[in-house]
Amino acid sequence: IPTRIFTDPREASKSVAHEIAELIKLKQREGKSCVLGLATGSSPKTVYAELIRLHREEGLSFKNVVSFNLDEYYPMEPDAIQSYWRFMKEQLFDHVDIPKENYFIPLGDIPQSQIEDFCKSYEAKIDSLGGLDFQLLGIGGNGHIGFNEPGSLINSKTRLMMLDHSTRAAAVMDFGGELIKVPKKAITMGVSKILQAKRVVLLAWGERKAGMIADAVEGSVSEHNPSSYLQSHGNVLFVVDTAAASELK
Ligand code: F6R
Repeated sequence: IPTRIFTDPREASKSVAHEIAELIKLKQREGKSCVLGLATGSSPKTVYAELIRLHREEGLSFKNVVSFNLDEYYPMEPDAIQSYWRFMKEQLFDHVDIPKENYFIPLGDIPQSQIEDFCKSYEAKIDSLGGLDFQLLGIGGNGHIGFNEPGSLINSKTRLMMLDHSTRAAAVMDFGGELIKVPKKAITMGVSKILQAKRVVLLAWGERKAGMIADAVEGSVSEHNPSSYLQSHGNVLFVVDTAAASELK
């Protein structure tokens, strides 16, 4: 997997934001929409901050952007402080000119009986727009991408997933330090939809990610580390800082 190592995660984030901005502008010139797959969590925050700066200071418009987020906790009310809906509004959408009807995040507040249909329609909507032009990813300390936890298959579809203990433990501070308050499930885009994106960029900062980054880049493809499935993608880039690269050979 092609990997770029930066000493400063902010510089790394800027280069990723600039790649996204160039893609948005290219699609604008072609009169097309730019279909982005987006992630939450701490890793992409600096990318979103740079995109906001490009909008404010350099006139980058998001009018032709349509976006699909990877995941949402289940159950989760959209206006709860931990919701990914709220995260995306605060970190990006409320600060740029993306039309409100152009962004989609899995719904954490639908009845369980509707989840299967919802997941099918989420994928169908992506397909109807010609698929994802660009997918931004973070990586879990256990190798998850989206909330495709270890054990997820390469052909997995968008679905309800039981979260690993380690994933819930990593989120505990967002829930007042109480593990019992961290949702046990999430709706996640499947591995197959992620792999169908025309371009995939995965971000990883810090030593906590080093083991899984080395395993994904240099190890064998295995369901034990879902990020290793990216080895089969022809246009993927890992953007990491020195700490996250520290276990690469
Ligand atoms: C978030 C997501 C997750 C995170 C991963 C890393 O939408 O899909 O896979 O990218 O858990 O999270 P951070 O960036 O907080 O370390």
